[in-house]
Amino acid sequence: MEKYYITTPIYYPSGKFHIGTAYTEVVADTVKRYKTLRGYDTYLLTGMDEHGQKIQTVAEKNNMTPQEHVDHMAALAKELWGKMDIKYDDFIRTTEPRHEKVVQEIFEKFLASGDIYKGEYEGMYCVPCETYFTKTQLVDGKCPDCGRDVVLMKEEAYFFNMKKYADRLVKLYEESDFITPEFRKTEMINNFIKPGLEDLCVSRTSFDWGIKVSSDPKHVVYVWLDALTNYLTALGYLSEDDSKFKKYWPADLQIVGKDIARFHLIYWPIFLMALDLPIPKKILVHNWIMMKDGKMSKSKGNVVYPELLIDRYGLDATRYFLLREMPVVQDGVFSPESFVERFNFDLCNDLGNLLNRTVSMVNKYFAGIVPTYKGQVNEVDKDLEEYTQSQIKLVEEHLEKFEFANALQELWNIIARTNKYIDETTPWALEKEGETLKLESCMNHLIENLRKIGIMLLPFMEKTAKSILNQIGLSNAENTWESLYQIDQIPEQTKVIEKGEPLFMRLNVEEEIDYIKTGMQK
Ligand code: MSP
Repeated sequence: MEKYYITTPIYYPSGKFHIGTAYTEVVADTVKRYKTLRGYDTYLLTGMDEHGQKIQTVAEKNNMTPQEHVDHMAALAKELWGKMDIKYDDFIRTTEPRHEKVVQEIFEKFLASGDIYKGEYEGMYCVPCETYFTKTQLVDGKCPDCGRDVVLMKEEAYFFNMKKYADRLVKLYEESDFITPEFRKTEMINNFIKPGLEDLCVSRTSFDWGIKVSSDPKHVVYVWLDALTNYLTALGYLSEDDSKFKKYWPADLQIVGKDIARFHLIYWPIFLMALDLPIPKKILVHNWIMMKDGKMSKSKGNVVYPELLIDRYGLDATRYFLLREMPVVQDGVFSPESFVERFNFDLCNDLGNLLNRTVSMVNKYFAGIVPTYKGQVNEVDKDLEEYTQSQIKLVEEHLEKFEFANALQELWNIIARTNKYIDETTPWALEKEGETLKLESCMNHLIENLRKIGIMLLPFMEKTAKSILNQIGLSNAENTWESLYQIDQIPEQTKVIEKGEPLFMRLNVEEEIDYIKTGMQK
């Protein structure tokens, strides 16, 4: 079985997760489910990035020790991913001994190989916040967090010799296509590599909530060196049992948001080169979910938490919206209006009605037994078959390129085409006219398309997909991706459900827009 290793970023436990954070997780989970369906031995890693000055400060504000704070946040994260049915295989926390031990070892390895050297760190320091900022991070020359004056400070620190690897990095960019989308590569070259790669400061003495450098314990390892290595430590790299590492490394897909692209596209491959390890096959950089008035922020009162949507509209509608509205490589916008609209149009009308109408017709005309395939009866059937086959290819192509919005759009085109097929064939008239053969073919084609729609929906919205397959009497069928390319897959005596459950209940537009808007203020 071919393996497929997917990673998400590990999240900072600084606050409650909003739909932006949940987005990365949903994308990763969809890939995992799709690849599993395609027969891969998949492994999905997620986790929490628990060290650093910021976490220490948040914990203090909450009157907790940093460890208490991160324990609490990790429990919340796991609860949310559980609620969102994220099929992760491991959840790594950077405060775990399995991680800390290996990070220390990696640091020492880099010291020994000369990749890390001791120097002096100089930067603009905010004393109350105990944080360094670069000149560009300052807002009007003041601390971007608290707005107070900053001072120029120096401290002894360790640096990673990035410059040494600049040429190899450029060569890697030229020779492989490990960055998706392509424009991020150009961005890295123009913004960071061409101006000259700076060595990276990889230790701090200004705070102690971090992993101590074992040979010089007044230093703690800089968060990004600590954080990035999670993708290795979680697999048991440099540990007694490294069987997972041997099996799954290099990662097949690493999913990251645009704000952390630089760390994953520059520093990460360089760390791996220094460790003499293979580079991940692909890093997918996704854009952000924005609000009409810009970024989500508590102060603007425009933050959407996943629970608000899931508790009222269900997980599948929430996942559908995130994947359908976000083009992955461009920013997408969340608005209550579009959420309610997609719910009513796409889910209730298009998908829900197709299933309902079909199930009730099979019940009405054939006592619930799906007629078997009798060959193509007429042009309309043939046309539907051909259209569906070519659309399935498109859905698959988009999924292979992680273009979820496009994949769903093509899938919904099949749904629309199948609804149109009912209007074209007018089964009620066929019944009246005694055109039994045509009516049989029509019902068979409708069920066949619902089978395909159900299978294609499995990676996106499992509950809905399973409900469709169950309602058309195929919950125990094989339902493989490969079977999408075959027609005539309905076994004899397949029986649809007598009274189907509606997949989605139509929403009152105004009421629900209000509901979401009110929820956003909280
Ligand atoms: N801890 C680092 C990652 C270390 S990975 C070795 C971090 N954490 S984070 O919690 O701040 O962000 C986690 C992910 O959430 C990032 O990929 C980030 O891009 C993503 N998102 C945060 N807000 C987002 C949106 N509004 N929309 C989509 N993704 C967003 O960075």
